[in-house]
Amino acid sequence: ATSLASAASAKGRYFGTAVAAGHLGESAYASTLDAEFNAVTPENEMKWDATEPSRNSFSFGSADQIVSHAQGKGMKVRGHTLVWHSQLPSWVGGLNATDLRSAMNNHITQVMQHYKGKIYAWDVVNEAYQDGSSGARRSSPFQDKLGNGFIEEAFRTARSVDPNAKLCYNDYNTDGVNAKSNAVYNMVKDFKSRGVPIDCVGFQSHFNSASPVPSDYQANLQRFADLGVDVHITELDIEGSGSAQATNYGNVVKACLAVSRCTGITVWGVTDKYSWRSGGTPLLFDSNYAKKPAYDAVLSAL
Ligand code: XIL
Repeated sequence: ATSLASAASAKGRYFGTAVAAGHLGESAYASTLDAEFNAVTPENEMKWDATEPSRNSFSFGSADQIVSHAQGKGMKVRGHTLVWHSQLPSWVGGLNATDLRSAMNNHITQVMQHYKGKIYAWDVVNEAYQDGSSGARRSSPFQDKLGNGFIEEAFRTARSVDPNAKLCYNDYNTDGVNAKSNAVYNMVKDFKSRGVPIDCVGFQSHFNSASPVPSDYQANLQRFADLGVDVHITELDIEGSGSAQATNYGNVVKACLAVSRCTGITVWGVTDKYSWRSGGTPLLFDSNYAKKPAYDAVLSAL
């Protein structure tokens, strides 16, 4: 195969990247995106602070740029993200429970309605669990004021707005079997048993030396798949360089391909030049858009 997209496609998978609207005008950025990827996730443009900066006043301009670029190239779009404690405008935190519930449902409804029919999968709720051994929910306006039921409510609202979009729960440090992933696993199991609509779980997969690719990564993806949901690798980046980084990337791809319900992989950026890990080099293309050993490892694993 001649690109990540065509190689993944031959295996029935997508290969995506996070995209920032502000870089689409850079020709090397756009040509690398268009040549190599067949799915995109807006890196920041669909977050609450971007789409509803003040209550019930919506702005979709920069997210629309990404969606129309993707549609023009036949790329899938992953919608990211509807309900998250971060990049949340301060007005949301100031609402009482009754207003927060209606604001959450209104936000989901307006954003999903705007993109209805154009989104492959939505990260409906992002990062609702704490790190560490407790398996507890993370404090957020949603958790603190609406209680444990907010996730279920968000998914039910999302299904009613766009029944054709896959609805995902997305998180980090859930890539291996641990207390946090066990908590998410139990939530998904409960949702499936009670008919709460959930179609997929996203595993962010931000790896570095302190948080390497877990040895039980594939087993963890498989146990979620066995609950009857698709699994997506949603924000993959791996710190490092050279052959060590390449080996880790290859192992992630092999783990996904070994799980039939792992439907695709998204890396968290096109080029090291614009990685959110500003000091690091965690992606497949270097800052001059040259293919790195990690790129070759991904392509040969696909
Ligand atoms: C990051 C973006 O890459 C940055 O540009 C932004 O400043 C902060 O958010 N988990 C997520 C992503 O779900 O939305 C985050 O993206 C990275 C961690």
